[in-house]
Amino acid sequence: MHVLAILLLIQLAIAISPTKNYTPGKVKCPGGKLTREANGICASEVEYVNNRKDIAKTNLRQFLKSVSMRDFDVDGFLDSGAPLPVIGMAFSGGGYRAMLCGAGQISAYDSRVKSKDKTLAGLLQSTTYLSGLSGGNWLVGSLISNNFISIDEVLAHKKLWDIDNALLDYYGDNFIANKIMWAAISMQVWSKDLAGFETSMTDIWGRALSYPLLAATEDQGDAFLLSDVTSLPAFKSYDIPFPILVADGRAPNSTIINLNSTVFEITPYEVGSFDPSLNTFVQTKYLGTQLDDGVPKKDCINGYDNAGFLMGTSSSLFNQFILQLDKAGLPPFINDLIKKYILDPLSKSNEDVANYNPNPFYKSTNPETTISGSKILHLVDGGEDGQNVPLLPLLNRKVDIIFAHDNSNDHKGFPDGTSLIATYERQFVQQGKSMAFPYVPGQSSFRNLNLTSKPTFFGCDAKNLSTLTDNIYDVPLVVYIGNRPFSYWSNTSTFKMEYKENERRGMIKNGYEVATRKNGTLDSDWAACVGCAIIRRQQERTGQEQSEQCKQCFKRYCWDGTIYKGADIGENYDDEGLTLTGKYYNGNNIPGIKDGGTELY
Ligand SMILES: *[C@@H]1O[C@H](CO)[C@@H](O)[C@H](O)[C@H]1NC(C)=O
Ligand SMILES: *[C@@H]1O[C@H](CO)[C@@H](O)[C@H](O)[C@H]1NC(C)=O
Ligand SMILES: *[C@@H]1O[C@H](CO)[C@@H](O)[C@H](O)[C@H]1NC(C)=O
Ligand SMILES: *[C@@H]1O[C@H](CO)[C@@H](O)[C@H](O)[C@H]1NC(C)=O
Ligand SMILES: *[C@@H]1O[C@H](CO)[C@@H](O)[C@H](O)[C@H]1NC(C)=O
Ligand SMILES: *[C@@H]1O[C@H](CO)[C@@H](O)[C@H](O)[C@H]1NC(C)=O
Repeated sequence: MHVLAILLLIQLAIAISPTKNYTPGKVKCPGGKLTREANGICASEVEYVNNRKDIAKTNLRQFLKSVSMRDFDVDGFLDSGAPLPVIGMAFSGGGYRAMLCGAGQISAYDSRVKSKDKTLAGLLQSTTYLSGLSGGNWLVGSLISNNFISIDEVLAHKKLWDIDNALLDYYGDNFIANKIMWAAISMQVWSKDLAGFETSMTDIWGRALSYPLLAATEDQGDAFLLSDVTSLPAFKSYDIPFPILVADGRAPNSTIINLNSTVFEITPYEVGSFDPSLNTFVQTKYLGTQLDDGVPKKDCINGYDNAGFLMGTSSSLFNQFILQLDKAGLPPFINDLIKKYILDPLSKSNEDVANYNPNPFYKSTNPETTISGSKILHLVDGGEDGQNVPLLPLLNRKVDIIFAHDNSNDHKGFPDGTSLIATYERQFVQQGKSMAFPYVPGQSSFRNLNLTSKPTFFGCDAKNLSTLTDNIYDVPLVVYIGNRPFSYWSNTSTFKMEYKENERRGMIKNGYEVATRKNGTLDSDWAACVGCAIIRRQQERTGQEQSEQCKQCFKRYCWDGTIYKGADIGENYDDEGLTLTGKYYNGNNIPGIKDGGTELY
């Protein structure tokens, strides 16, 4: 059956917010504590992932057999009794740019794709975890909320991801429709406020964001909860890689965010952090409940974990767009909220904050930390601590390999490894002491050694990681995939909030080409090399020799420890995505892709 037909059916069946709208409502408490100490992955996730692994294994077998690996016995490897190599994928922030580049990349891995470029088709189905933050959380969040719809289907849908107009004028010239939209948003957030739940700019932002992202859901996901994802057919059949969204915690009365900040993981089951500053999780479904060390003080609350609100939390950097709304035409409630943020300096510095009041972690740790000691929990955009690729949840789950999709704006709209460097450095600050992440070089090496021009593998040799940790095989191999122009100038501004149809397709197609190395034309062994990376840790654990082909792949794609010390070679992109050749120049005399890349569609 068609995915959307299924969606319509299940909308009638799932347990949406008890009030059937944006306002949370009272429910009977389930009994017992609603928080837990973070001494491992929660039971529901463990169960999900165990079931998912069966599906992933079947698909990985098919994938590895399809990628032309020489001198490698797929069945022998997978049936040896050793655990399945666990694959995680991370999608960075960077607004709609990151969402669209990420969509192209994820589509390239999807066996359901209609494209004739099947280089890596099936990798997504072999994956166990999917993490996203900010713009990457729009990608992950909207796909999982729509029953894991494929990108092809998103593009064919009339309303999903309609980003022709900025959210402020979502319906374009239709003045009346825009007015109705903002009046509806105002009513929804105001009702939550009146029901006694303190609201913030993130409520408004999350609702607005739901118009394109949850367009296929009744009333743009007004009552659709992140915990409702667990009731969707694709989740029940374990067809979704387990999804994790990321946000950062901000200490009360402070605007400081750095590598010591608490990194929050948000899943359909739980919200919380493994960091020593919190080390606690709460059940997602019961957010909004007043808890004291996890014990409900009065009634329990459901309906607080609105999917748009949580996606808005992970992308709260974009709250500032709300401040730019045309005040004259706005409903009074939104107007008052905006005024508060513009006029009051204390509020102004908190415009990017999502308020969670009551704080579900109140008194949950002993001794209290800045987070557990506060009545309100403040969460902000997951990219604010500099770790713009959400790697921590995947490190915490000890996956074998991470595909790290970096669609950040570090340098002229392209990534230069800044995010990986931040995660590398975090293992040396207080909060990151229990984790390990492979060595990476500085930004200059990333740019000048072509580490962003083509995929680069980090942590190729687990034995080289022994100075970082004793458990060297628990450190994943990282396949870094940076945004790069091949057929489209995909370095659009993070704050570009409208994409016409040709722009949307150009970005997605380019992302696809980044992932598949232009349909394998840049390296006919690329898919086999991906296979070599996936099996590497397992081979190391069991002392198996790499095939000659895999050795060659690792020579081509592994960072070998070289640090670049020369002068910066500057910007320069050719049709192969590499630096330095500059065979073609665009209208602005920028060396780059043939014909400028914008006219192709
Ligand atoms: C990709 O390459 C295959 C053959 O290797 C070819 O059949 C297919 O048409 C190509 N797809 C695209 C989109 O170029
Ligand atoms: C934060 O500031 C408010 C208002 O100035 C004050 O009432 C509150 O006690 C402060 N909280 C902390 C944890 O310092
Ligand atoms: C992290 O916290 C520790 C201890 O609280 C402190 O010594 C260190 O300077 C902090 N690091 C950063 C990057 O703020
Ligand atoms: C995209 O990259 C080109 C080449 O470096 C640069 O000229 C252009 O300004 C960049 N665009 C943005 C929006 O950063
Ligand atoms: C980077 O790519 C260019 C081709 O554009 C090549 O000439 C150069 O040698 C490469 N640099 C390194 C360090 O491999
Ligand atoms: C691992 O360490 C060896 C010996 O120090 C070195 O030759 C090699 O380049 C390192 N490999 C990587 C991938 O860093």
